[in-house]
Amino acid sequence: MNQKLEIIKQNVIKCTKCNLSKTRTNSVPGKGNFHSNVIFVGEAPGKNEDKNGEPFIGIAGKKLSIALEEAGISREEVYITNIVKCRPPKNRVPTTIERETCKDYLKQEIAIIKPKIICILGNTAFNSILGGSEITKFRGKLVRKEEQLYFLTIHPAATIYNQELITVLKKDIVKLFNLITELKNNKKVKIDIDYTP
Ligand code: URA
Ligand code: SF4
Repeated sequence: MNQKLEIIKQNVIKCTKCNLSKTRTNSVPGKGNFHSNVIFVGEAPGKNEDKNGEPFIGIAGKKLSIALEEAGISREEVYITNIVKCRPPKNRVPTTIERETCKDYLKQEIAIIKPKIICILGNTAFNSILGGSEITKFRGKLVRKEEQLYFLTIHPAATIYNQELITVLKKDIVKLFNLITELKNNKKVKIDIDYTP
């Protein structure tokens, strides 16, 4: 693993900066390939993640893997992380203070990996990173803000009880990797929403 990422990981593991440190079993640092062209950002660890210290290893993670497979991509090729690195009690949505307190770790992960695209999974990540809401309206779109590209899609957990949404997630992930291929080939891609002044 990259040395700088390893340092972040160790800092996350021992972090007590917010109240979630009191109720977690394990912190859940980001995981994956530091050469990845994309970082996936979820909301917060769930029960399985808290137990094992790894992101997206429960049912939501299985859904994400299925969508990646559709695009011919394995989990090992990408980097996966969350807005907050510790599980909120009863899986409640992390508070503004918790998200703000944890933000620096994500910022550091992004600065090291320098992904071509950051893939935002669901409303909490959309709101925390871009101040957005109503992901279902904006999913499938490519956003540019301060020279960084973001791709918006639904949270994999939303597909658990909804077969139609797994189709949507698969379709979006295929589009995401098509965009990445175009970017790698220095092709121009269509930006749907541009926050650049
Ligand atoms: N949901 C998330 O947002 N992140 C995880 O790591 C697992 C489930
Ligand atoms: Fe630290 Fe983030 Fe965990 Fe809070 S959620 S204790 S800021 S790692």
